[in-house]
Amino acid sequence: MRRKVRRALTGVLRVPGDKSISHRALLLAALASSPSRIENLNTGADVASTASCLRTLGTQIERSGASASVTPRPWGEPSEILDCGNSGTTMRLLMGPLAGLQGLSILTGDETLKRRPMLRVVAPLREMGAVIDGRRFGELAPLAIRGGELTPVSKELPVASAQVKSALLLAGMHARGTTSVSEPGPSRDHTERMTAALGASIRTSGLEVAIHGPWQPEGFEMEVPGDPSSAAYLLVAALITPGSELSIEGLGLNPTRIGAFEVLVSMGAQLHWEQTATVLGEPVGVVTASHSDLVGVEVGGVDLIPRLIDEIPILAIAAAFARGTTTFTGVGELKVKESDRLEALAAGLRCVGIGAHASDETLTVVGGSITPGEVDSLGDHRIALAFAVAGSLAPDRVRIQRWSAVETSFPEFTALLDQARAGR
Ligand code: S3P
Repeated sequence: MRRKVRRALTGVLRVPGDKSISHRALLLAALASSPSRIENLNTGADVASTASCLRTLGTQIERSGASASVTPRPWGEPSEILDCGNSGTTMRLLMGPLAGLQGLSILTGDETLKRRPMLRVVAPLREMGAVIDGRRFGELAPLAIRGGELTPVSKELPVASAQVKSALLLAGMHARGTTSVSEPGPSRDHTERMTAALGASIRTSGLEVAIHGPWQPEGFEMEVPGDPSSAAYLLVAALITPGSELSIEGLGLNPTRIGAFEVLVSMGAQLHWEQTATVLGEPVGVVTASHSDLVGVEVGGVDLIPRLIDEIPILAIAAAFARGTTTFTGVGELKVKESDRLEALAAGLRCVGIGAHASDETLTVVGGSITPGEVDSLGDHRIALAFAVAGSLAPDRVRIQRWSAVETSFPEFTALLDQARAGR
């Protein structure tokens, strides 16, 4: 059989806007006192879910591809159920402002989202005064929120989570006084950076952040930085493909998002990044990856794992191409993402001939050679994208079930990979 020879990845690319920042930009624009204009919004289904919920709440959003004009209107009690689709960020972040909205809101999502834990957001919002119910006493959606006057709280989160932290900060915008949140590790701090850049009285001290309410932003203009989580797939594809040298510019380089870049460097990757600008408090710059020989490493620690929580699937693929064993520890949160990512990764890697084992908090990957196999993405975009990179050197070998999951965050993946192969 004639084997297709895959071409090196070269040239300079841009990736679509950051998903986390896009959700926050739409939310803050919908809560603002005047219109906003957002460019380079993430074009995936999750951010579309946020836009659609905000429209149901009365916000006017005109979207043309990656551009959006947002005209805020005072949020009214929604007459329709708010459908968050597959998007945990939509559901958890929206709950913050809805807790401060007079009236009843009902939130639901797809089958996956309805299995994800919500009590971590529900419980502190109840303490602030919202009345919230849902299946299993509020652990699972559908959720019903009766919002109203909120009282500020000080919360210590047991698990680092930007979604929970952001929901409380967004609720804190509606409470009179100081709402503070501390967490055991540094989760992404986009909400803090954006609200501070828009003039909120918000202070970060170590792992604690406090916002003083009530506060309402004015409308703003922004270009969302490229998504480092999306970039990571292309960068790892370049690292494992001989002859590659690929740059991605206009990329978000927030330190709470690029823990994976640091791990790749510790694996021997020739990966360099440099900040060139700042957008609403977010560092933006260029990153370059060249083909490298990778070695297995130990990845763990509460200071690191939250900063690469979404990149463990692609790091597991980098580990499959590395010499030796890579162990990820303290990664139990992956069991409650869009799928049980620890099991999905271990099972998928074994399907393509790589030794892998998952336990409650750990994933071990033994570097080797990919053999032909079929992997179930479980409808999880990050599992599908990671295994597409595993198969990118020999695409006839790795078949991915439920590939359409990539629409969630990165519909442009295949086109950008082809563009990099063409060296443009
Ligand atoms: C996100 C936070 C993370 C991450 C998710 C996006 C956000 O979730 O996994 O993809 O935009 O705040 P957790 O906060 O649950 O860790």
